Formats: sequence, structure tokens, C-alpha cells
Amino acid sequence: MLQGLEQLSSDLILGLSDACRADPNPNKVNLTVGIYMNEAGVCPVFEAVQLAQRAIVDEEVTKAYLSAAGDAQFNTGIQRLTLGADSIALADGRVSSIQTPGGCGGLRIGAEIIQAASPGARVWISDPTWPVHIPLLGSVGLQLQSYRYYDPASHGVNFDGMVEDLKNARAGDVVLLHGCCHNPCGADLSLAQWAIVADMLEQQGLTPFVDIAYQGLGDGLEEDAAGLRLLISRLPEVIVAASCSKNIGLYRERTGATIFVCRDEANASAILTQAQAAARRVYSMPPAHGALVAGRVLTDDNLGVIWRTELSAMCQRINGLRTNLRRALETTCGQDFAFIEREKGMFSFLGLSAAQAVRLRKEFGVYMLDSSRINVAGINARNIDYVAQSVSEVL
Ligand SMILES: Cc1ncc(COP(=O)(O)O)c(C=O)c1O
Repeated sequence: MLQGLEQLSSDLILGLSDACRADPNPNKVNLTVGIYMNEAGVCPVFEAVQLAQRAIVDEEVTKAYLSAAGDAQFNTGIQRLTLGADSIALADGRVSSIQTPGGCGGLRIGAEIIQAASPGARVWISDPTWPVHIPLLGSVGLQLQSYRYYDPASHGVNFDGMVEDLKNARAGDVVLLHGCCHNPCGADLSLAQWAIVADMLEQQGLTPFVDIAYQGLGDGLEEDAAGLRLLISRLPEVIVAASCSKNIGLYRERTGATIFVCRDEANASAILTQAQAAARRVYSMPPAHGALVAGRVLTDDNLGVIWRTELSAMCQRINGLRTNLRRALETTCGQDFAFIEREKGMFSFLGLSAAQAVRLRKEFGVYMLDSSRINVAGINARNIDYVAQSVSEVL
């Protein structure tokens, strides 16, 4: 039976990272994978996480299973973080959530629930989007449609194209939106554009599914959730996939959630049972450690202050890197790179061709995706001039 299955090519992003690891070039720079790296080129463990972990290890008395919905303290924390502690939907009791293995698990459980509610529903995804959205949503049987999102010429959102394409969505369709720090392009909707999207969703009977994996890494925790919160204030139903991989640095601990904002309390409770059943058939119950840590960080005042300070420093550093990279590229290439500073979060397209991206890897050991998506957080004071010089060589 197994012999009929072919060898698959390696995951595009992870494959490039492996290639970078094997590259003997002493100047190599890995700008491929979406992990935050500090000035030392290390993806650090937050101090708040270290403190929470120590307390958990000291206090832990059992390794018994969590429930399929996960840790209650974590669910409370992630709901407040994402929706806002003063959320009216939360006060109305029409929100439920399930702890998932990372944001990917959050997307998958959201997809399972959409498929259960409306088998074969159409889900509109941005062009471009994070490639993993396609198998995560498509493999449950949802039909994927794409809407224009990024305009390479202006290095910004093609909002007219987005609106025009979403006019073709029918009542009952779902629209997948990146809550902030769009992956891969870094170009986000303005609040005024979110309001126009909310009007369209409302008028056309569409349900938003918001993937928020970078809250706190764009402009700040509250600012980055403003578009999502605007949708929640306007629409009766919103599905959210949240991740703690980047903003609490829990990548390998697989910590995320699916949050359902429902029409009323009874429906929120019903959807929770559906989400638990979906979890049970896919992976049974989520891993505990990351959520126990995140639950403490998100609900303990002292840990919360430490975490918010660390996250804010991370966010400021990314934005500082954007300014420095823009300057370095403009100096070496004599071209306008102002868009790098306008974009948010970890990613930007440099606007290079695939051939130029390949040359950068082969000749200079500067690794970025063929689309020229870079992880800005992979830049540091030691490699910035080399990256800028290498880009200027291929341009
Ligand atoms: C847009 C987007 N959504 C969701 C995720 C999910 O992240 P994780 O499953 O690691 O929490 C990522 C991770 O890179 C992402 O970029």
C-alpha cells in the first residue's frame, strides 16, 4: 500500500532554510523563515515565558490530559487579548474559544466548523497569502477563491481590486483576512479600509475568518487588533484564528486558539461543543505546556507587564530595522524603498525577480523566497550592509 506514494519535494520555506544551513558561505543570511531573531541572530525565549515556565514546573502536580477545549485560563487570556478586555461581545457572553495546536490548529478548527456549518462553502483568500492557508482550509473540503490584495507596482494594497473581487462573493461565503502584518507582503488595510470591508461583509451576508498571527508586532497589541475589533463591533458572527507563536515566542510549543464570536450565548455554547468534537476527531486535545505558560502571561498582572514591555521592544526593533533597511538599500541601490518602512510586521517583498532571488542565494548566500519575501527580523547590524550590497549587485 505505502509503496504507491511518491517522494514529495520539501516544503518551500523549510527547504530553503535547510539549504541555508548547509551553505558554507561565512556571510550567509537567512531571511526565509518567519521567526523573530534578535541582534545576536537568536530566536529568544521571552523573560515572562521563562518566569511562567519555572513556576509551572514548581507547581505542576499532574500531566493528565487537558480537555479538548484546552486550558480555561488560556482561553480567557486569549479572548481578552484578541477581542479587547472591554469587548461588548465578551460581556454579552456570545464568545467561545478552543485552545489549538498553534495558529495552524486554529485555522484548521475554524475550517472544520465552517465545513460542518456549510459543507463546501466558498472561502475567499487574499492573493497572495501565506501558502499554508491553502492546504489547511482546502483539505477539509472548502472551496477556495482568491481576491486581489497586493499591488507589486505600488508595493501596497490593491484595495480597488480587492473590493471588485469581493463583490463576486455570495451570501454564505467566508472571507479570510489577515488581522495585521500580512504574510507575505506586510501591506495592511487602513482602518478606513477595514470599515469598507465591514460594510461589504454586512451587506453581502459574508462571514469574516480573521487570521491574527502577529498581534503586537506591527504597531502594538491594541492597534494591531483594531481592524478585527471593528468587524466584531459590526457583524454578528466572526471566526478568529489566533497564534501565540510569534507574540509570546511559543513557536514550538504549538499554542493558538480558534475564537468564535456568535449571535448569542446559546450559539456560542453550541459552537464550542462542535469545535471540541472537531478537535477530538483531528488530534483529540491540544498540548498543555505552551497554553499553561501563555495563560499565566496573559492573565497575571506582573508577568503581563514584563511580557508587554518585551513585546513592545521587539516591535520597535522590527520597525527600526525597517527604517535602517530602507536607508541601506536606498544608499546602495539608488532606488526608492520607502515601502519597507510603510509595511508592518516581519515580512516585505523586496520586489526582485525569482532569478534575482536565486542569484542572491547562489552567489551571496542571502536567502529569501523566490517571491523576494524577506523576514525583516532576520536583519541585524552585522548583516544589514552585506544584504543591501548583495541586493544592489543583483539589481
Ligand atoms: C499568516 C499566518 N497565520 C498563521 C500562522 C500560524 O502559526 P503557528 O501555527 O506557528 O502558530 C502563521 C505562521 O507563520 C502565519 O504566518
